[in-house]
Amino acid sequence: MSIYAYLKEDHQKIKHLLGEIDALGPEETAERSELFNRLKATVVVHSKAEEKVFYDPLKAAADVQEEVEHGQEEHQEAEAMLEELTSSELVGAAWFQKFQSLKEALEHHIDEEESDIFSDAKKVVNHNVAEEMEENMRQEKLYQVAEQSIAKREHLA
Ligand SMILES: [Fe+2]
Ligand SMILES: [Fe+2]
Repeated sequence: MSIYAYLKEDHQKIKHLLGEIDALGPEETAERSELFNRLKATVVVHSKAEEKVFYDPLKAAADVQEEVEHGQEEHQEAEAMLEELTSSELVGAAWFQKFQSLKEALEHHIDEEESDIFSDAKKVVNHNVAEEMEENMRQEKLYQVAEQSIAKREHLA
């Protein structure tokens, strides 16, 4: 499998979780919180691994650099929104409104990544490297999952 197919699978998972949260009623708070935690972990692990394995090597290619930096900014924006949505100050309709902004931002980011960044990357990354990147992405995600769990434990301590 190439990095492109693998990233697309991850994107599908993220879009599916966004849709599931969107479909919940206002009273389904326990389900919402469980799905949101899963979404947050999935997005953070995906973005961090993607930057390291996919974006960083692409930065060396002058034509792709700008697209990648734009993608990285969108990762930061999504992470800030995920943090805001985690804060207990945001409840009810205000939470849902912010969630809609996050959903739109992530869907936009995924579309742009799969069209602009993927097509630029395919011009500079050969087939073998694209396959290696997929394997590296799996490894990096495991590492990020461990990092996130440690960060969470330390935060609670
Ligand atoms: Fe992505
Ligand atoms: Fe991304």
